[in-house]
Amino acid sequence: MSDTTPAWASSTTWKKVAIWVTAGSFVVLILLTFDSLSKTSPGAGKVPAYAVINKEIDYRMDAGKKHFMPVIGKDAPLFGKALSEGEAEALVALGKKTVQAKNCINCHTILGNGAYYAPDLTRAWLDPNWRSPAEREALMLAFLKDPKTNAVTFTSGRRMPRLGITDEEARGVVAFLKWMSAIDTNGFPHNFKTIHHQED
Ligand code: HEC
Repeated sequence: MSDTTPAWASSTTWKKVAIWVTAGSFVVLILLTFDSLSKTSPGAGKVPAYAVINKEIDYRMDAGKKHFMPVIGKDAPLFGKALSEGEAEALVALGKKTVQAKNCINCHTILGNGAYYAPDLTRAWLDPNWRSPAEREALMLAFLKDPKTNAVTFTSGRRMPRLGITDEEARGVVAFLKWMSAIDTNGFPHNFKTIHHQED
């Protein structure tokens, strides 16, 4: 390469540019990873700590944000027993593993991901079809273990099959669904009327 080659035409310049752009993107990617983790780790940002399952949860329009937001209310322990953060995490984890093992997203969407055969489960805990907060836990457990016999009308006109879920797994799934209903999803799903609105 002769000394008269202008900088823009020199392969050395472009090699340097490529190296700096790659290195710069790598740094940005690392910063974004930490930023996402700070927003999506339980107890930080948009995702609640697992012990939120000890509280009443609702989902209402937030006038300031102009979209629906989870609202954490008074004490309302799941299955009548307040759990420590560790106990709550173990129960929610069992539910999440059950949801993965039984492949619920083969039919349902969860946080918008999955199939469109059955209703989205993001706010299933708050679905008014569970009649009332007092009846809900028992109805959900019975439905999950045996959806055919304990069908509740979810207006889909479709039926969920029996998936061989044990008592403990069903309790885990209910805990997982309750915890998920408290995740701030930037207003997804929009205009979801919860079980509490029925009481208003
Ligand atoms: C083969 C498809 C299929 C699979 C797999 C499936 N479901 Fe369902 N599920 C349905 C259908 C269909 C309905 C709606 C029933 C109705 O309208 O009566 C439903 C309804 C529900 C509801 C009530 C929805 C609401 O709005 O409250 C919950 C909760 C639920 N399923 C949880 C689960 C969980 C948890 C799993 C995995 C362990 C699962 N489902 C796996 C088909 C399925």
